[in-house]
Amino acid sequence: MTPMSPLPVTKAVIPAAGLGTRFLPATKAQPKEMLPLVDKPAIQYVVEEAVRAGIDDILIITGRAKRSLEDHFDRNFELEYYLAERGKSEELAEVQALAEIADIHYVRQGEPLGLGHAVSVARKHVGDHPFAVLLGDDIMDQRSRVLEAMIATHMERGSSVVAVKEVPTDELSSYGCIKPEAIDGVAAELVKILDIVEKPDPADAPSNMAVMGRYVLTPEIFDALDEVKPGVGGEIQLTDAIGILLQRQEVLGYCFTDGRYDIGRKIDYLQATVQMALERDDLGPAFEDFLVRLVRERGLLGDT
Ligand code: UTP
Repeated sequence: MTPMSPLPVTKAVIPAAGLGTRFLPATKAQPKEMLPLVDKPAIQYVVEEAVRAGIDDILIITGRAKRSLEDHFDRNFELEYYLAERGKSEELAEVQALAEIADIHYVRQGEPLGLGHAVSVARKHVGDHPFAVLLGDDIMDQRSRVLEAMIATHMERGSSVVAVKEVPTDELSSYGCIKPEAIDGVAAELVKILDIVEKPDPADAPSNMAVMGRYVLTPEIFDALDEVKPGVGGEIQLTDAIGILLQRQEVLGYCFTDGRYDIGRKIDYLQATVQMALERDDLGPAFEDFLVRLVRERGLLGDT
């Protein structure tokens, strides 16, 4: 079963090779993970979240149009020189810090054959260690400590841990969905996963608990991924590999509530942008004034 002394989680895999068809035409020539939320590309928030959780080795799975991703985390000497010459020291420090944020590696997924396939190409880099997977288009509130809690759970029990959140029934067919079982004597957020199904018909869904884009996985997932056949949408699904894994070892769900956006969906992208702008000290007050004025002008609150 699970190892007695779990190894620490120091590596993360960020799949960012999908086609982003729900966000066309913006994603025609750039990955959706590079869409900005206020003034940072989405993937920077994801990398910063991994670093906050104590991870210092990050593998980004890239596809076509990968250049901008690599450039973002690389040095840009021309820009640095330009900023230094003009005394823009804050901006200079910010762009330099990006290149130091973590040890970032890239591997290419030749074809976008699915999330499971994207994770499987990380095998060589990850080796025989537990690792985190953070979807590059899933943004967590910056105060979220979900990943830290998942890693702590893995360290305690040696299990794989998957982030789950309750969603409305009509949204279940967009997610992997779990059959949970309460566990005696552990934190209420933790459940044992008995079954997992990708994009179920809501009538057949085992619960309303859906898998969100954060995972802490044991390396046994790679053997499971080798066994998986193309599933929903003809893609190699990570959900199906987790379904195999949970027959061999304990897989837990970590239940959380708020503060997650799938920025691959336009409505989530807009909400995340507004939320993040409001929380910024430099932009929040002026932006809030604008929103209040807009709401008034459009009569969105009726006569009040
Ligand atoms: P999604 O299913 O949300 O991404 O995958 P997608 O396929 O790009 O989106 P749509 O449905 O066409 O709009 C979740 C994450 O997995 C990555 C995506 O880049 C995204 O971060 N992914 C998906 C891969 O890296 N490779 C794949 O083959 C599929």
